[in-house]
Amino acid sequence: MSTEKMKDLIDGRRTFAIISHPDAGKTTLTEKLLLLGGMIRSAGTVKAKKSGKYATSDWMEIEKQRGISVTSSVMQFSYSDHHINIVDTPGHQDFSEDTYRTLTAVDSAVMVIDGTKGIEEQTLKLFKVCRMRGIPILTFINKLDREGKDPLELLEEIEDVLEIESYPVTWPIGMGKRFQGTYDRFTKKIEIYRGNEDSFHVDFDGKEASDEVLQNVTPEYVEMLKDEISLLDEAGNDFSVEKVKAGELTPVFFGSAIANFGVQSFFDAFLNLTSPPQPRNSSIGEITPEYKDFSGFIFKIQANMNPAHRDRIAFVRVCSGKFERGMNVTLARTERKMKLAQSHQFLASSRETVDEAYPGDIIGLYDAGNYQIGDTIIGEGQVFKFEPLPKFPPELFAKVRVKNAMKHKHFEKGITQLVQEGAVQLYRTPYFNDLILGAVGELQFQVFEHRMKAEYNVDIEFSRMQHSIARWVDKKQLKDGMTDSRVLHVEDRDDHSVLLFENEFVFRLFQDKYPDVKLLNIFEV
Ligand code: G4P
Repeated sequence: MSTEKMKDLIDGRRTFAIISHPDAGKTTLTEKLLLLGGMIRSAGTVKAKKSGKYATSDWMEIEKQRGISVTSSVMQFSYSDHHINIVDTPGHQDFSEDTYRTLTAVDSAVMVIDGTKGIEEQTLKLFKVCRMRGIPILTFINKLDREGKDPLELLEEIEDVLEIESYPVTWPIGMGKRFQGTYDRFTKKIEIYRGNEDSFHVDFDGKEASDEVLQNVTPEYVEMLKDEISLLDEAGNDFSVEKVKAGELTPVFFGSAIANFGVQSFFDAFLNLTSPPQPRNSSIGEITPEYKDFSGFIFKIQANMNPAHRDRIAFVRVCSGKFERGMNVTLARTERKMKLAQSHQFLASSRETVDEAYPGDIIGLYDAGNYQIGDTIIGEGQVFKFEPLPKFPPELFAKVRVKNAMKHKHFEKGITQLVQEGAVQLYRTPYFNDLILGAVGELQFQVFEHRMKAEYNVDIEFSRMQHSIARWVDKKQLKDGMTDSRVLHVEDRDDHSVLLFENEFVFRLFQDKYPDVKLLNIFEV
């Protein structure tokens, strides 16, 4: 393939995640984006899947039992000369480390905020990971068709709670029953809201309202809009594309996903303001997407997507070169060569075979147990490893042991495999070698228990611990007397020291008492 064609393919790719708190409207927005891309013909498809009405054989048993999605799926579609990959971040009870890890595989993020609620807990956690990676984050404030918080208050909240500059690109005119539309500060057009009918645009320079404006927006609201625009122009942040691309400023848009209002203009701006796939650090330096050989890394392993086959799917983010089905690759960790005969791409939970893929794309590889989270795979050429994925702090902990001591070998095998897949974190206490599992979400424990029984025929016993905060720490900084049962010292599977704090109070007390001990929230090598 010519370098030029490759460059076009890379430049047109956008790989992003939608981060939000449950119920903010992520599913609804995703659905509207899929409609834009022509991937679905009617609204309701994605929601039906979520509510369990969507028939598919691809859900794990536990997913079916609970009617929720355990795993993140990937949606791919084309829109306006772009090839889009949306990587879903599972929320609700299925919030897990996979949700965090997904964010290591994307180049940008859309943050959906419920305008009636503002910033919520899960949004904040996911935002922090995006911020750490310095990726562009665009904000969509949803549910303007409902009475919500004051837009200025919402901006303040973004700046104060998330500690990021904001720039409202669109601005709402009224809300709830009095919602009339939004004003776009870039295009200088008002998008008029008509409930279930299609919206339309009228020009407005922010000063003189034409008859067309006055026919569609109440005069009182036009005056209010003028004041608010000049306030934003004078007192607000300046816009800077560089800051957006560096993840230092979030452009903000207002709309209503359910009414499909403001979604298209938001997405058009999103495509303009975000970057195509970016270079990644590796053991041989930066690997650009244009690098000649295929390379990618595994950010997620999903078991039993199809219970009939008991197979595993490793999700690969393509970082450079061209992926072709059936190609030979080297697994960098073991330097083993393998042929990639089975590969998939995804629309929600249905799979299609993929024959080729390019930087930015996410593909699923059939995995017979060869892969681990963070593995690098490479086509021809020099073998290298991408930098390790960061480790994220679990918040739930449980001591685990096998019920029947005779099954100890199976237990060890199962736990090793599931930990390598990233299903849970495993810690050991230094002297007694107690095994402690760490999870971000409750469901991880349930999946672990279910899989230990189903795949390794082992019954396990959990005893839940009080501890709720984990921080990595340099072992050399730990002194006698610093730790006890409320500040438990454990080691992760790479022998890095971790402190488990019983609660926020104990955590603060420790920080006050030992201000020099550096405590890491996210562990990066
Ligand atoms: P999530 O994926 O972030 O969890 O949110 P989801 O899209 O499922 O939306 C959560 C609820 O909010 C849904 O209502 C959905 O219809 C509603 N919603 C989403 N966007 C908007 C919006 O722009 N305006 C308003 N007013 N509501 C919105 P539900 O009652 O839980 O489900 P359903 O009965 O509508 O299916």
